[in-house]
Amino acid sequence: MDSVKDKVYAVTGMGGIGRSVAKILYTNGAYVSLADKNPDFLKNALSELDPSAQSPSPRILTTVLDISNSAAVTDWIKNTTTHFGRLDGAANMAAAIGPNHGVGKLIDTSDEEWDLLIGVNLTGMMYCLRAEIRAIMETAGGKGSIVNAASIQGLRGFANHAAYSASKHGVVGLSRSVAKEVGEGIRINVVAP
Ligand SMILES: NC(=O)c1ccc[n+]([C@@H]2O[C@H](COP(=O)([O-])OP(=O)(O)OC[C@H]3O[C@@H](n4cnc5c(N)ncnc54)[C@H](O)[C@@H]3O)[C@@H](O)[C@H]2O)c1
Repeated sequence: MDSVKDKVYAVTGMGGIGRSVAKILYTNGAYVSLADKNPDFLKNALSELDPSAQSPSPRILTTVLDISNSAAVTDWIKNTTTHFGRLDGAANMAAAIGPNHGVGKLIDTSDEEWDLLIGVNLTGMMYCLRAEIRAIMETAGGKGSIVNAASIQGLRGFANHAAYSASKHGVVGLSRSVAKEVGEGIRINVVAP
């Protein structure tokens, strides 16, 4: 983990996996810019990383953010590079599951539920990835590493999960394609729990 020391990472989704990623990065000497739409999750993450820290602090920045808002994502990453001077990587863990996860068939899926899952999990992921790659190119010499949260449901089909599964298949395709665009300088990977 020496490789993350003194580097700057953007992390979304402070509910579970993202918070653990942030803690591992922080305890190994990284600077972290944390974002979530839920302010309570951000507060919990901040106190878990450093009970005495306020945000902004020299090593932690927290931002209430809806990743499906393109302009807000652009601002978040711009504020991150302004605060820390650079961006070296990201862990894009935020996602929505919707109210009918695992129980709703496609024929019962509303337009609103479809739009929410694709809008957050795929389009929001693209907004984050695009802004992060631009920032790594501009501030870190085009060298960095980004990890996106997909899912086993991004690799296989599951009944009653069509919208979520489609969004996560999209994350896999997005990440595979962009990884080929950015070449060896910026590694783009997914995790698929
Ligand atoms: N935990 C699992 O078993 C599992 C399995 C497969 C995939 N995943 C994926 O791994 C990632 C992390 O999972 P988790 O268990 O930590 O999920 P979680 O639900 O605990 O955390 C997701 C976080 O994303 C945030 N979020 C939701 N919509 C947002 C938005 N529009 N803008 C900003 N933040 C938003 C939530 O507030 C929450 O803090 C997700 O992408 C999830 O789909 C998790």
